[in-house]
Amino acid sequence: STPQVLAGKSVIITAGATTEPIDPVRFLSNHSTGKMGFALAAACRDAGADVVLVSGKRVSLPTPAGVMRINVGTADEMLAACQAKMSELLASTDQNQTAKNQVIFIGTAAVADYKTANVATQKIKKTANEGGLSLQLVRNPDILALMSKTYPDALMVGFAAETQDTENYAKGKLAAKNLDMIACNDVSNQAIGFGSDDNAMTVFFAERYQKARTVLPQASKAQIAASLVACMGEILAQ
Ligand code: C5P
Repeated sequence: STPQVLAGKSVIITAGATTEPIDPVRFLSNHSTGKMGFALAAACRDAGADVVLVSGKRVSLPTPAGVMRINVGTADEMLAACQAKMSELLASTDQNQTAKNQVIFIGTAAVADYKTANVATQKIKKTANEGGLSLQLVRNPDILALMSKTYPDALMVGFAAETQDTENYAKGKLAAKNLDMIACNDVSNQAIGFGSDDNAMTVFFAERYQKARTVLPQASKAQIAASLVACMGEILAQ
């Protein structure tokens, strides 16, 4: 009974946290649980799409039935998996349709902004670093921005978690990453942050669309996911 607004579409979704190794036993990561991305994968499937979920390997949620899950560690691995899957999809898509009408890329992953400049091949010993230890960090690639640049014909959907000046930051990311829509939540609100079962979002659309925004009041992540799919259906129909 779910409207099949994504029938015939292929969706790639990133979800969860990336893990950036420091040495063979330690890594840098963050608190993302992957709940929003996994809920969205299920909602896209329910709306008729073929769904690939590129997930941080530490996400402990069950993979939604019928969804293909690819586990990755680092941001570099996540990017490579997304590029490989996208190329594979585009090679098999109907040449009579534009990719915009067929492929959707959704970035919900909490990608680590930095990785260690060098991963130690052996465990770092505290006895060798009695005075303290400095790690040199370098920036990770922006997966969503790179996918959007490489595959301009895919429909691109981003997320933003902000604690202040939400609208300006969200619209800035929409433009900078060349997205079709961005879903933004206010993580300073304890009821809807990391690991929570609920969410509340404001969706901003690219200027070429008729609608500028949609406000999604607090609801379960499953309900929010269904509303986000409806938003995608609306702009695909334009
Ligand atoms: O720039 P910021 O991290 O706030 O942007 C959030 C959006 O960009 C999310 O959709 C997130 O999944 C994506 N992103 C990404 N790769 C990064 C950083 C963010 O795909 N390195």
